[in-house]
Amino acid sequence: MYKGQHLPEHVGIIMDGNGRWAKKRGLPRSAGHVAGASNFRTIAKYCSQIGIRYLTVYAFSTENWKRPQEEVKALMRLFRQYLEEALRDFTEENIRTRFIGDVSVFAPVLRDLIEQVEESSKNKTGMVLNIAMNYGGRAELTHAMRQLAQEVKHGSMQPDEIDEAAIERYLYTAGQPDPDLIIRPSGENRTSNFLLWQSAYSEYVIMDILWPDFTTEDLDHALEEFVKRNRRFGGI
Ligand code: IPE
Ligand code: IPE
Ligand code: MG
Repeated sequence: MYKGQHLPEHVGIIMDGNGRWAKKRGLPRSAGHVAGASNFRTIAKYCSQIGIRYLTVYAFSTENWKRPQEEVKALMRLFRQYLEEALRDFTEENIRTRFIGDVSVFAPVLRDLIEQVEESSKNKTGMVLNIAMNYGGRAELTHAMRQLAQEVKHGSMQPDEIDEAAIERYLYTAGQPDPDLIIRPSGENRTSNFLLWQSAYSEYVIMDILWPDFTTEDLDHALEEFVKRNRRFGGI
């Protein structure tokens, strides 16, 4: 259990490497997603236990629809299972679950479950868990710009009133602090469209571990690495 001081308030995790994990074992990619989803439950609980205030996990990107239909289907099945389980079993946990991304495209049964999970956990006072589903940083910013354009069109806002705070009000993470630390398992050195606006000054920790293998000790290591970083935010 992490005992260090100075916890990041907001942690983001790009849950990557499920497919490679399965391939290494001669299993179908979907088996990697099953293992990854199970690990997500473990890591989210751990983050809540050690006192992280906000956890944002990247579960499905706006680009992941490009994958073979069979894989997308398997992911949607897992998503549904998770939502049903969250409604049934996670009631005692003090975690507030929210979904970020355009969830309007999902099947009605999924949308309904999403709403129920958000509703049933909305008064929880512990960690806020943002699950990024059909999330893309560019899509998020496009959505925000459209909303601002509507405001200008209706006269409720002037173009010169569009500032950073106005843009932030239309992000899916409105009202939340920016991520302090973003962890990317699987060794890839890129954002893959995750929290583009919010990560301007996030500390990235890239780890050469595939997501299903990522343990609570690995999370501790990322936190220890974060503490050593000297964040300047453009200052000196
Ligand atoms: C992350 O693992 C899960 C999703 C993107 C849904 P991947 O499926 O991307 O696994 P790799 O990167 O191919 O190993
Ligand atoms: C990022 O991983 C998305 C999620 C983990 C949900 P990808 O596997 O989609 O990213 P790329 O394709 O390697 O950049
Ligand atoms: Mg990947």
